[in-house]
Parts: sequence; C-alpha cells; structure tokens
Amino acid sequence: MRVLRTQVGIVGAGPAGLLLGHLLHLNGIDSVIVENRSRDYVIDRVRAGVLEQGTVDLLIAMGVGERLQREGLRHDGLYISFRGNRHHIDMAELTGGKAITVYGQNEVVKDLIDARIATTRPLYFEAEDVSVGALESSSPVIRFRHGGADHEIRCDFLAGCDGFHGVCRPSIPERAIATYERIYPFGWLGILAEAAPSSTELVYTCHERGFALFSMRSPTITRLYLQVPPDEPIENWPDEAIWDEMLARMTTSDGWKPRVGRIVQKSVTPMRSFVAAPMRHGRLFLAGDSAHIVPPTGAKGLNLAASDVLVLARALKAYYEDRSTGWLDEYSDVCLRRVWKAQRFSWWMTTTLHRAPDESAFDHQRQLADLDYLTGSRAAMTSLAEQYVGLPAEVSFESAGL
Ligand code: APR
Ligand code: PHB
Repeated sequence: MRVLRTQVGIVGAGPAGLLLGHLLHLNGIDSVIVENRSRDYVIDRVRAGVLEQGTVDLLIAMGVGERLQREGLRHDGLYISFRGNRHHIDMAELTGGKAITVYGQNEVVKDLIDARIATTRPLYFEAEDVSVGALESSSPVIRFRHGGADHEIRCDFLAGCDGFHGVCRPSIPERAIATYERIYPFGWLGILAEAAPSSTELVYTCHERGFALFSMRSPTITRLYLQVPPDEPIENWPDEAIWDEMLARMTTSDGWKPRVGRIVQKSVTPMRSFVAAPMRHGRLFLAGDSAHIVPPTGAKGLNLAASDVLVLARALKAYYEDRSTGWLDEYSDVCLRRVWKAQRFSWWMTTTLHRAPDESAFDHQRQLADLDYLTGSRAAMTSLAEQYVGLPAEVSFESAGL
C-alpha cells in the first residue's frame, strides 16, 4: 500500500475541491485532491453557468480569471416574463454597478484543473473505492485504489468536496448531523442548441404551461430549460416537441422568442433544496454540494461552493499560521448564514416562477400578483437584484490570503 502525507486531503475535483486546493496553494498549504471520475468526464459534464459578481472577483483575485474575463458574458440585467410580457430588471443600476457573468461551470473547472496541474501538486482522477476515516482523530485519512494500487493519504484535515452523492457526508454518524430537505414536484429539461442567443440577457418565464428559462453559453450557443415532471423520461421529448414547447412558453407579445437551432445536448434534472448541518464533523469539513443543494432557479449552486471554500481557506490559513482553531470552529456557522439566505432566495425564485401541480386558482392569481408587484416596485426589484448578483461574502479575500 502507498502511504502519503499531506496537510489537507480534498475529496472531489468539482468547483469546491479545485478552488479550495488553489486557495491553499496560494497560502503555501499542501493538499492532495482525489476524484473518482476521469478528467474528461469532469470537464465535459454540462452544468449551470451563472457567476455572481463576488465569484468573478474571487477567481480574478486567485489568478485564474484570465479566460473568464476574455470569454465570460457580463450581464447587467435580466428579464422576468409573465402574461406574455417581458419586464427588464436593471441589476447593475439597482446594486451600484454589480452584475453576473455567464461562463459555464465546466469552463471554470477546466481553468482550475489547468491551474492545479501547473502547481504540480497531486490531483488523482479515476480513484476507485474512495473512503474517508479517522474523522475524529488528529490524523484523518482518505483511502482509494489508483492504478491497481491501494493508497492511503494521512492528513491534518479533510475537505468533503465530493458533491451531493459523495462519500464524505454519509461517513458522518447520523446522530452528529441534521438534514433539512424539500423536494419539488417538477424538474428541468435542459438543452444546449447551436443558435445565436436572441437576447443578450436571461429571460425567466412564468407561463400558464409552466416555467421556462432562456440562457446562453456563448455568442453561438443558446441554453434553454423547461419545467417538466420530476422523473420525466427524456425519450418523451423528441427535439421537435422541445422546440414547440419552448416557443409556446417563451414567445412574448412583442414577438421576441428564442432562435431555434440543432440540439446538441439534452437532459432532465430533478429539483431539491437540501442542507446538512453542521458542515463539520471532527476534522472533516463539508463544502459545496456535499453540504447543500439549491434548486437551479436562483443560479446559486456554484457560487455557494465558492463562498464555502473562501471561509474554509481563511480558517486553515489561520491554523497553519499560529495553530489557532477559532475560525475552524466558526466555519459551519459562518457558511450556514449565507447558505440559508441563498436557500431562501432559491426557494422564492422557484415557487414564484413555476406552476405547482397541486396549486389552486387562488395560488396562481397570487403568484401573478407577486410577479406584478416585483416588476412594478423598485424596492422589490432591488431585493431580487442584490440577491441575484450575490449577497456580500461573510469573509474578506484578504483574510483568506488573497
Ligand atoms: N470520491 C471522489 N470524488 C467524488 C466522489 C467520491 N466518492 N463522489 C463524487 N465525487 C466527485 C464528483 O465526480 C465531482 O467531480 O466530487 C465532485 C463534486 O463536484 P460537484 O458535484 O460539481 O460539487 P461542488 O464542487 O460542490 O460544486 C457545486 O456543482 O452541482 C453543481 O450546481 C452545483 O454549481 C454547483 C456546483
Ligand atoms: C444556465 O445558464 O445554465 C442557468 C442560468 C440561470 C439559472 C440556471 C441555469 O437560474
């Protein structure tokens, strides 16, 4: 068996694990990242693509924002559409100049893998039978098989960045962790189409037939979503049926509609809200999707992963500077404050824009009144805008060594 030692063992090479590894590297802290999928799989996996202002600022401050600044699409506003009309929300004007940037999560992951490889610090792909242990000791471990050999990494701390279906959260004894969950009675059918985006900004639509979302990935690729039943087989949706439904829900009275093109990817994802608390057990710290899931309507998933690891990097930096554990002890509480606000926002965006199968006629009229109020009140639009561009981080970049 190969035994290795490191300071921080990181399980998972998604945005959370890779960002943490790089933040630690910038502070001279050693880490090993262990990922069970292949490099190509991790890079090709199609995910969300909205970066809050603070996430963009973080990537730039970390020195991994060069391609993001060149290729990312900055959006100063967005549209909310209902009763056939689009209403513009000028986020930059309402937030003192903040915006979001559309840049695929897989592009972020690609840039971070390149940055990791340039540091020459270890990153294992295709690790098999990954497990974590000795969480309550001062030397927790990651075990896995790689290249036909058993490996054990002995660490000072573990970071569980292995997503919702990972092994870290289930390794915490049930009595030591509480979970909070809400499953929504719908899912999203998402497509990538070879079509130039017909709007420069996102359009969130609440239609009688259900929710629809217009987004994009580049000047030539449109990204669209449709509300469908949660376990809808994708086979029920030939390309033509997808376009019929997209156009039926999204076309507005002024004639705006998405441009149609060849569909190059399609899939259905269920929607849930989930929080595990505390986000720490012994020397294992959970970050990103391993600790919380938001429905994609608020576009918060990747951004929450980024804010978690900023808080964790601050705490680990302080520990290695003077062995202080105060910020490690505060990690979970500090993260959960922001996580719950993002949960609330994502739940609100989701319930305000989707049609629930069990809603009454009253519920629907109230929903339309909500949207009418939102798009007619500067106060309500400011509330949406400040949450959509991202509430302030709980900790400064400087405190995390940037
Ligand atoms: N061992 C090692 N790695 C694992 C294991 C395991 N047993 N299980 C899962 N992983 C890996 C996954 O293959 C994935 O690459 O952990 C990584 C987790 O990455 P993400 O799921 O992307 O989660 P996270 O890094 O927290 O990023 C949150 O991802 O799901 C989206 O919308 C979400 O944008 C948000 C972001
Ligand atoms: C996306 O572009 O994939 C996207 C945009 C906004 C969301 C969710 C996903 O709320």
